[in-house]
Amino acid sequence: MSSLAIDNIGLLITGDPTLGEGPLGELRGAAVVFEGGRVVTVQRAGVEADGRVDAEGCCVMPGFVDSHTHLVFAGDRAEEFGARMAGKAYEAGGIRVTSDATRAAGAPELERLAQERRAEGVRAGITHVEIKSGYGLDVAAEAKTCEVAAQLTEDVTFLGAHVVPAEFESDPDAYVALVCGEMLEACAPSCRWIDAFCETGAFTAEQCRAVLEAGRAAGLGLRLHGNQLGPGEGVHLAVEMEAASVDHCTYLTDADVEALAGSRTVATFLPATDFSTRQPYPDARRVIDAGATVALATNTNPGSSNTTSMAFCIALAVRDMGMTVDEAIRAATVGGAEALRCPDIGRLAPGCRADAIVLDADSPIDFVYRPGVPLVREVFTAGRRAWAAAG
Ligand code: NIG
Repeated sequence: MSSLAIDNIGLLITGDPTLGEGPLGELRGAAVVFEGGRVVTVQRAGVEADGRVDAEGCCVMPGFVDSHTHLVFAGDRAEEFGARMAGKAYEAGGIRVTSDATRAAGAPELERLAQERRAEGVRAGITHVEIKSGYGLDVAAEAKTCEVAAQLTEDVTFLGAHVVPAEFESDPDAYVALVCGEMLEACAPSCRWIDAFCETGAFTAEQCRAVLEAGRAAGLGLRLHGNQLGPGEGVHLAVEMEAASVDHCTYLTDADVEALAGSRTVATFLPATDFSTRQPYPDARRVIDAGATVALATNTNPGSSNTTSMAFCIALAVRDMGMTVDEAIRAATVGGAEALRCPDIGRLAPGCRADAIVLDADSPIDFVYRPGVPLVREVFTAGRRAWAAAG
């Protein structure tokens, strides 16, 4: 097995406080060595290995772990976005527009589109991704979506309960029964997780509970969309059912924050969504200070967050959500890994998967200080170079 060293690193963010200074476990003048797809050691610069990458004094950090995306879809909703910027409110019902386009697309087209989006994410430093279904909304299209997603990640989430499709408008409970029955059976083989959208205009807490219970019985882990467009029961339901993550958390009561703090459920913030839907930004400071674990994710989708940029999410989290740079970097790496219950990603510590990014910057503060500037120079997944900037 040959080894590869990234050497001459000005600042190495290990993500493991036991390996270096501060909450991000920082080392200066360092090297990291990969072998067999894993990190074998982090040490002082100047290392012997079969292959060597010169970081030229730049910052190296774990790749981003994007724990919430909807990468498999067809069509776009630029018109809806334009109308929103002119004052129209975001509504969950827009999901049906994407569902029509997704149902009409063949598997090869969905594969091509999803691969392009995944490649865009890799260029932006995302080395691990979760992908949800939810734009098929019938058995065949949901199963197709999950299969396409499974070509890109092990973390596929069945989200049949994204919105009630038009043909079930008059009988939403019949749709929930379909999701919990035939649709789940068709999708579960490609999935690790199940999710539901707990929100006015989508599904009630009672319906979401039924979906999550069915998923659990089928062997899937639980996640939930909650408290996105207003206060609601999502956070409490997620905590009560011991979901790995409750996502959005834009509107939280004191009781929600307290419940999160006393649980293993990660509060995943999706600030690019609040940007695009003109919602207020969540107060992450309050959630962190209460002791809850938090993550940041892009929520790539055509309706509420059409971006693959974790850097953008980090900038919003620091500028508008009360997070420090260290907290935002942690939330976008280790936090995402915790939200996916994957202890071997999100850090550059011995034994972890060798997922790393080399920045065109001395420090990750530049994600906030130089917003919008492409700062990812090189990307490694499982110890192999997945992408490098030209020149
Ligand atoms: O996470 N909240 C539900 N699902 C997506 C929105 C999907 C859409 O509008 O197409 C989200 O924001």
